[in-house]
Amino acid sequence: MSQSTLFDVNSHFQKIYARPVILEAKQLSQVFKYGKTERTVLNQIDLKIHKREFICVIGPSGCGKSTLSRVIAGLDPYHSGEILVDGEMITGPSPERGMVFQGYTLFPWKTVKENVMFGPLMKGASRMTAEAHAREWINIIGLDKYENQYPHQLSGGMKQRVAIARALVNEPKILLMDEPFGALDPHTRQRMQKHLMDLWQNIDITIIFVTHDMDEAILLADRIVALKANPGEIKEIIEVDLPRPRSLDLMATPEFKRLRKHVDHLVHAQEDELDPALQDLPKIPRMTQVSSTK
Ligand SMILES: Nc1ncnc2c1ncn2[C@@H]1O[C@H](COP(=O)(O)OP(=O)(O)O)[C@@H](O)[C@H]1O
Ligand SMILES: [Mg+2]
Repeated sequence: MSQSTLFDVNSHFQKIYARPVILEAKQLSQVFKYGKTERTVLNQIDLKIHKREFICVIGPSGCGKSTLSRVIAGLDPYHSGEILVDGEMITGPSPERGMVFQGYTLFPWKTVKENVMFGPLMKGASRMTAEAHAREWINIIGLDKYENQYPHQLSGGMKQRVAIARALVNEPKILLMDEPFGALDPHTRQRMQKHLMDLWQNIDITIIFVTHDMDEAILLADRIVALKANPGEIKEIIEVDLPRPRSLDLMATPEFKRLRKHVDHLVHAQEDELDPALQDLPKIPRMTQVSSTK
């Protein structure tokens, strides 16, 4: 019997939906003003995310993924609607919503350990407590040998592991990740995906992960929120009915490929709409005599 027949999709999603809602967006809109004109980037988004869910947000470039994550992070005020964490309105950044973004956001003048200690110290922990918590997380991400190194001495993958530890040391309810592995080479990226899945399996956290990589979204997510652009709206929410725990081998299965085709269609159809030039690519005229026989 294959692994997928053992996996009961219905009961899996029933269990997820029975958990409390941790984040809820109600008619959430974001409008940016450019002089006298304004542009609606997010338009009346309704979304419920359940505790311990792994949500991926995908959509074509410029559709509002980062705008949504900044609003959830509390970094940008929003135009209208509501966004609630555990029933409380978001009014600004909070350590309960940890953030990991694509650009390496570590303090370059601090060591790995000092970077991870920063959050607890800000919350008023003693140096000793902060150091103990930091060490615990540095061990979990497997960088104990590097705790006294500076960010410039680390590889891209290591820097993102430190960024993850720096967010998790604050014991956030939600981890927000905006294209966190976007700058990594494919091999490191895959290892980081696996590492993140292992972390998520073992700690009590809800992850909202923005990516434009469809394979990444399918591999990681319980549900994929596919946004469409102009204005950003939810085009579809896809339940990823693949068994867990997942490994990279899953990507070669027909089930994965079926989902991939569906997601591909959702996102690419929009990219063509967004860039009319793509629909009408010119035929390149022959400019030199090119022959494969000579
Ligand atoms: N602070 C801002 N002020 C004005 N326009 C913005 C701001 N942030 C994002 N935008 C615009 O909103 C749109 C969506 O951007 P973004 O959320 O970064 O897209 P994505 O992350 O999906 O690629 C873009 O057209 C961008 O130029
Ligand atoms: Mg973005």
